[in-house]
Amino acid sequence: MNKTIVVTGGAGFIGANFVLTWLNQSLGTVVNLDKLTYAGNLENLTTLEHNPHHIFVQGDISDQALVAQLLAEHQPYAVVNFAAESHVDRSIHGPEDFIQTNVVGTFHLLEAVRAYWGNLSAENQQAFRFLHVSTDEVYGSLGKNDAAFTETTAYAPNSPYSASKAASDHLVRAYHHTYGLPTLTTNCSNNYGPYHFPEKLIPLVIHNALAGKPLPIYGNGLQVRDWLFVEDHCAAIRRVLEAGKVGEVYNVGGWNEKPNIDVVRTLCRMLDSKKPRADGKSYADQIAFVQDRLGHDQRYAIDASKIARDLGWKPQETFESGIEKTVNWYLEHQGWVNNVASGDYRHWVSKHYTERGEEMA
Ligand code: NAD
Ligand code: DAU
Repeated sequence: MNKTIVVTGGAGFIGANFVLTWLNQSLGTVVNLDKLTYAGNLENLTTLEHNPHHIFVQGDISDQALVAQLLAEHQPYAVVNFAAESHVDRSIHGPEDFIQTNVVGTFHLLEAVRAYWGNLSAENQQAFRFLHVSTDEVYGSLGKNDAAFTETTAYAPNSPYSASKAASDHLVRAYHHTYGLPTLTTNCSNNYGPYHFPEKLIPLVIHNALAGKPLPIYGNGLQVRDWLFVEDHCAAIRRVLEAGKVGEVYNVGGWNEKPNIDVVRTLCRMLDSKKPRADGKSYADQIAFVQDRLGHDQRYAIDASKIARDLGWKPQETFESGIEKTVNWYLEHQGWVNNVASGDYRHWVSKHYTERGEEMA
């Protein structure tokens, strides 16, 4: 079997970071299957334009015939599934796309992979892996003093997004138990870093701050997320692919729990020193408390001790070092942000935040 892998959703935030680092390390050819929804962006991959080890295919994971054809043609030893609808707020406005891609799409992908895997030689069947990239949100919401999520925490998804991801995790589990498909699942906490689409909290705040717009904080801003630099997540996925035990789940997190308001204040302080406002005031003056997210989960926290103990992975970046790299990247890539922040993005921002009492078109 050759050194080719298929990556789905590799033009999105985490998928693009994964593909870029994989190819930087010359780990083999990547066949990148991405539908190019509003969140997929080929600009994330421009440095790979002339790289013969990157084969981009625009298509849907629900297109079983296309996936079957790609698998037959490229004979990968692994499929890494990032493709998903990923934004909680969008899932509240319109859950259907989430069910279609995250549930039905994962099902069709699994079916195509099962057929391909079933026809491999015994040796290649053993070497094959299907790695499903999932989220800590499937475990629901924690109270202030609850222990962090482990791999055995019961599923309790609260949003259409997390419910659709939970369904996909269950399908992956079932395909291992029923058919013996060699699966691996990772459940990761909130990522941040380069190429993060500016509908999500950290890039939205950086973008709005520089544009002189309000920095919208849902509710009281005391909800807690566990932040992980995206390259650390990519390293964890590589490690699980390399050494994870088939059929197992690995939680991935940064041991970096922060209330949203602290994250936003940190970003404001960094921007105050790196790119001061023309009027000498702080970006924190732009903070605006807006109507809360429906069903907003209070706290996520990942217990990442299993992956540390069994596979020797731990994050390389602290929140301080990772957020500094991230702010620098956004300041150096304003062209990328401006290209992304047009079209459908403007429509989304205007509709979503006007409903919360902020004009942000
Ligand atoms: P993203 O929204 O930035 O990117 C998703 C990508 O998938 C896009 O390129 C999009 O075009 C593509 N895609 C969507 N539907 C598709 C389909 N039907 N067929 C093929 N491609 C399709 O998402 P992200 O933040 O990079 O997240 C990637 C994965 O990681 C998701 O599965 C998400 O649930 C999971 N995850 C994300 C985070 C996070 O903090 N962002 C944390 C844990 C897990
Ligand atoms: O936990 C992992 C999950 O992290 C991933 O599975 C999701 O794909 C990813 O989008 C992310 O979900 P969150 O909902 O936690 O991320 P988001 O950046 O949308 O919001 C982070 C927190 O900030 C959350 O408590 C909501 C809040 N928030 C968000 C936005 C966009 C605001 O206060 N204001 C905002 O404008």
